[in-house]
Amino acid sequence: MRLIVGSGTPLCGSVNIQGAKNSALKLMAATLLAEGTHHLSNVPEIVDVEIMSELLRSMGSSVQWEGVNRLVITTPAIDGLLPRAPYELVDRMRASIVVLGPLVARAGVAQVSLPGGDDFGHRPIDIHLDALSLMGADFKVSHGYVTGRSERLVGAEIVLEFPSHTATDNVLMAASLASGETTITNAAKEPEVVDLAEMLKSMGARIDGAGTSTIRVVGTETLNCVSHEVIPDRVEAATFMCALAVTGGEIELLGARRDQMEMLMRKLERVGVDFVVSSSGILARSNGRPAASDIATLPYPGIATDYKPLLVAMLTVADGVSIVTENLFAGRFRYIDELRRMAANIQTEGHHVIVRGVGRLSGAQVKAPDIRAGAALVIAGLAAEGETIVSGVSHIDRGYERFEEKLTALGANVERIDS
Ligand code: EPU
Repeated sequence: MRLIVGSGTPLCGSVNIQGAKNSALKLMAATLLAEGTHHLSNVPEIVDVEIMSELLRSMGSSVQWEGVNRLVITTPAIDGLLPRAPYELVDRMRASIVVLGPLVARAGVAQVSLPGGDDFGHRPIDIHLDALSLMGADFKVSHGYVTGRSERLVGAEIVLEFPSHTATDNVLMAASLASGETTITNAAKEPEVVDLAEMLKSMGARIDGAGTSTIRVVGTETLNCVSHEVIPDRVEAATFMCALAVTGGEIELLGARRDQMEMLMRKLERVGVDFVVSSSGILARSNGRPAASDIATLPYPGIATDYKPLLVAMLTVADGVSIVTENLFAGRFRYIDELRRMAANIQTEGHHVIVRGVGRLSGAQVKAPDIRAGAALVIAGLAAEGETIVSGVSHIDRGYERFEEKLTALGANVERIDS
């Protein structure tokens, strides 16, 4: 599968922002915590959600789409639960690690294939394991799997070495079924963590402080079924904003929320994108030639590492020189070689990227190495003279719902073809 991207005409019109991938996956994992039928709405129809569905089914849950963007998940009683995440699925999606906390907490045992490294560099799970061990779980690694066992988990005072997003998710879910109180210090503050906490509260957990660096959870013996709506995907919204910054035009991002992407929007305002917040979303305007700007990625509320490839693609055609600094992942640079093939002037120095803006890129055949980098290459295609052919579209499909259809509806020239 490839995307053929034509030279960008100004984007114009409105687009619905999908539900957040990095929220939906955790909410799906959280259904493992309670027997019965759960309803999730605003779930993006993307490949990662399909992989998480397969994972839940492999453990005994029933997962079905019911109408547009609505998932119905029925979780079995403990004796019907197979608490194992196999290599084949974890290898396709490392976010599968978020089943570890709920499984140990509910089933007292979990066997999860160890996620390997990826294009982002070394990605350990030590913070997850240390935290769950403090709550009484015992972990052993053998034959590529980590197996955790525990009697009922007990609340603990946990200090995360780094505000890891999925480690915070795992502890939040585990603590909701633990006995007593858990405090997570240096917790991740992402809006998707808040969304998970809201769902857990609706299931019966007592949680305070989600969205701040200290979260308190008072666990309960059993949790209830839930109906919950996934928050909007700030990374998808950011993708359309960065695309607009290079094409110019005016678009409305329906459902997008400024409070979940404040730092990014301030940065984009500085490079020349104007925003008006309305009750239905965010209206964005640009003249198509961003100014240069220095950017550093940081945990939330800083500028997310997931925005970085989108921003780098945008800055390749900026007026001036920008320095982009990656502070979360050691790797995440492979797409830069692809951008260079499109005549971008980019240099890497350790974890810094120096981008010297050129007026226009040059369309080329390029390959998406991961979800966000794939979207970034499409943005670059919109900013290029001639045709850009992006392969590796399966990566984009992992996180974006009908990406090319949405862009086409905004006036972009993007077509999907079978390879
Ligand atoms: N880290 C450790 N040990 C751990 C966990 C993390 O050293 O046990 C380090 C990582 O190596 C990294 C840093 O902590 O340097 C941050 O990693 P974090 O754990 O926060 O990342 P994550 O939870 O694995 C989530 C998102 C990513 C996003 C990062 C950073 C999900 C499913 N994934 O990953 O999203 O880039 O947070 O914000 O929520 C994506 O959507 O495409 C994506 C990759």
